[in-house]
Amino acid sequence: MSQKPECKTEGNYIVVPKGLVNVIVDETKISGVDPKGESTIYRGFTIEDIGENASFYEATYLILYGELPCEEELKEVKNKIDKYRGQVPEKVFDALKHVPVTHPMYYGIYGASLLGQFYASDWKFDPDFLYDHALRLTAQLPVIFAAGWNLAHNGTFLRPDPTKDHAWDVLRMITMREPTELEARAFESTLVIYMDHGFNASTFTTRVIASTLSDLYAAVAGGIAALKGPLHGGANEKAMEMFLDAKKRAEGKGVPLDEYIEEYILEKLAKKEKIMGFGHRIYKLHDPRTDVAAKFVAQLKDGDYWMKVLKKAEEVMWREKKIPANIDLYTAILYYQLGIPIPMYTPIFAMGRVVGWSAHYIEQVLNNKLIRPTEKYVGPSGLKYQPMETRCRK
Ligand SMILES: CC(C)(COP(=O)(O)OP(=O)(O)OC[C@H]1O[C@@H](n2cnc3c(N)ncnc32)[C@H](O)[C@@H]1OP(=O)(O)O)[C@@H](O)C(=O)NCCC(=O)NCCS
Repeated sequence: MSQKPECKTEGNYIVVPKGLVNVIVDETKISGVDPKGESTIYRGFTIEDIGENASFYEATYLILYGELPCEEELKEVKNKIDKYRGQVPEKVFDALKHVPVTHPMYYGIYGASLLGQFYASDWKFDPDFLYDHALRLTAQLPVIFAAGWNLAHNGTFLRPDPTKDHAWDVLRMITMREPTELEARAFESTLVIYMDHGFNASTFTTRVIASTLSDLYAAVAGGIAALKGPLHGGANEKAMEMFLDAKKRAEGKGVPLDEYIEEYILEKLAKKEKIMGFGHRIYKLHDPRTDVAAKFVAQLKDGDYWMKVLKKAEEVMWREKKIPANIDLYTAILYYQLGIPIPMYTPIFAMGRVVGWSAHYIEQVLNNKLIRPTEKYVGPSGLKYQPMETRCRK
């Protein structure tokens, strides 16, 4: 932990630091940072262990149900996700054809809301019902993102193929081409490492909405809205824009990018600019998720070239600022290697995180207490209503 908690009381109230920094608001059994602050724990396993070894279906089962699935359980969860992926209501696609072209995170915000209009009218708090909807939303959200993006930019979209593996099919729908097994596995591992991360801003948003006993679709729409903000999701997009800007300048100077990146970063640091894809609130020495992504970056298109650039950037940032790379630096390059359009990077984060949001929704509603803090009002008081004639006279 970086800062010593400051905790004050005023009368019967506890005054917590702005931004809830270092405030524990509740317990969770889903995920969290390990006591040494070196890794994130998914239901007892390190994130790098699960990211490297588990399939999307296995990790989804683990995050939702709390343990790795046996063969039958895995089969069931896979069948459901694949079946639901093929069942997005046709009217959702119709709606996507009639919206203006905006940032693709909006497809998720209103996509989740639209699904709620189909599925959430008779909402129940029975665990089986909730898990079933968690799988349905996990399966359908990526279809909506991919269809929305491609309708807006290519005038057409690919339908899901329920006979195919989830990650492979989602990547196919996004890029409109059939990925190789290696590309699909690289993409899948990033969905798994984005799946959950304690009480981050979007997960906390989801839990606040859940605590009002709203339905899962509405709660996840709120989570996506929180993830959209540049202080949360979005760093992977910014990191890639930075690399492309540096690449263009390097080409202009006739210098290889892995040489030029040092000058580029130093210039930015001199101007007190942040280098996107570096730094983390928890991981101050090393983000273990980068190791999982790095293995795939090295094997994908132009892997040697990009690894040299990444390593040089990391070396410069560590030498100058003692700040390590975070996962977004690596997913930025990995998604670029897969040919994914940059504005879709944050939606992909949401395609993985929907599992975590769903698990937190279920954990919250099955042991609920309305989340409703109290404010400290510091505005004026004692004013009296004035009629218009006297109100605005100077
Ligand atoms: C993620 C982040 C918000 C963590 O923030 P934090 O733990 O609250 O740390 P701070 O933002 O307070 O930074 C502490 C110091 O390191 C510097 N720093 C942190 N990240 C930096 C970066 N990416 N580039 C340059 N300097 C950075 C800050 O400027 C600050 O310096 P100062 O003490 O001289 O003012 C921050 O590192 C950041 O903005 N990174 C870039 C965005 C990003 O990649 N986000 C994805 C996170 S997974």
